[in-house]
Amino acid sequence: MSSGLDRSVDRYCVIGNPIAHSKSPEIHPVFAARTGQHLSYVRCLAPLDGFADTVRDLVAQGYKGANVTVPFKIEAAQLATRLTERGRAAGAVNTLSFIGGEIIGDNTDGPGLVADIVRNAGVALAGKRILLLGAGGAARGIMLPFLAERPASILVANRTVATAEALVANFTGHGLDLAACGFEDIAGPYDIVVNATSSSLAAALPPVPAQAFAPGTLAVDIMYGDAPSPFMRFAAEHGADTRDGLGMLVEQAAEAFAVWRGMRPDTSEVFNKLRVKK
Ligand code: ATR
Repeated sequence: MSSGLDRSVDRYCVIGNPIAHSKSPEIHPVFAARTGQHLSYVRCLAPLDGFADTVRDLVAQGYKGANVTVPFKIEAAQLATRLTERGRAAGAVNTLSFIGGEIIGDNTDGPGLVADIVRNAGVALAGKRILLLGAGGAARGIMLPFLAERPASILVANRTVATAEALVANFTGHGLDLAACGFEDIAGPYDIVVNATSSSLAAALPPVPAQAFAPGTLAVDIMYGDAPSPFMRFAAEHGADTRDGLGMLVEQAAEAFAVWRGMRPDTSEVFNKLRVKK
């Protein structure tokens, strides 16, 4: 954490380990400048066994909030004294607000993905058939914001089928067609396919069959990198329109900014800047 900060402004940071790669400090100051908000935003490296102490220290220093990234999102949910509905549903927290002695945990990752699909890609989720690949923490954070958009159905496919079944069991009761399966049982095509597995980190292709895609399918990888992921390339080869996770990254930041500052910044400038830099 850098010292010598201007203490007259509200202070925020992003906590992770490692943290040097985080783009959040390139995003929030632009949002602040464009919305006329006065704040500072820095990177904060927490020891792997020292997340809670780091957060307590930030609170003691008068920080107003923090983003949380790998590997602390689940610990952040446990540390929060209060969780928002979407923080609770995700079981993981990427946004902390320090208010009146409370540590409030929220999750803006799923809402960020929804915003990127609906606003930036211009594709409504309502009434659509959705295939969600993966059933880990990232997939869990996506479920509630997706369900809120009232799609026709969500099929969760995972390598370990039992994990997908457990995930779906957590979200029944929304009156929507929810199901779980293994990759081999995927039919299709789907209107929207989201790769929420961590396969792209290993430059691997999740074993999704070609028939999941058709012209008109939107295929979104929640990861982003310098080049399209194997998932994006495979989807494009089978007619889908593709998107990486850069839009989701910028939109989850905008949602966090809105949680803290009560106003949602325009995201296009930051998105274009980061896209060009890649
Ligand atoms: P995250 O927080 O990124 O979701 P996670 O909770 O460890 O990380 O979950 C990783 C997800 O990616 C899981 O759904 C995992 O499948 P399993 O439950 O079967 O382990 C999935 N995954 C990781 N690598 C994969 C690969 N190469 N192909 C398919 N699925 C993969």
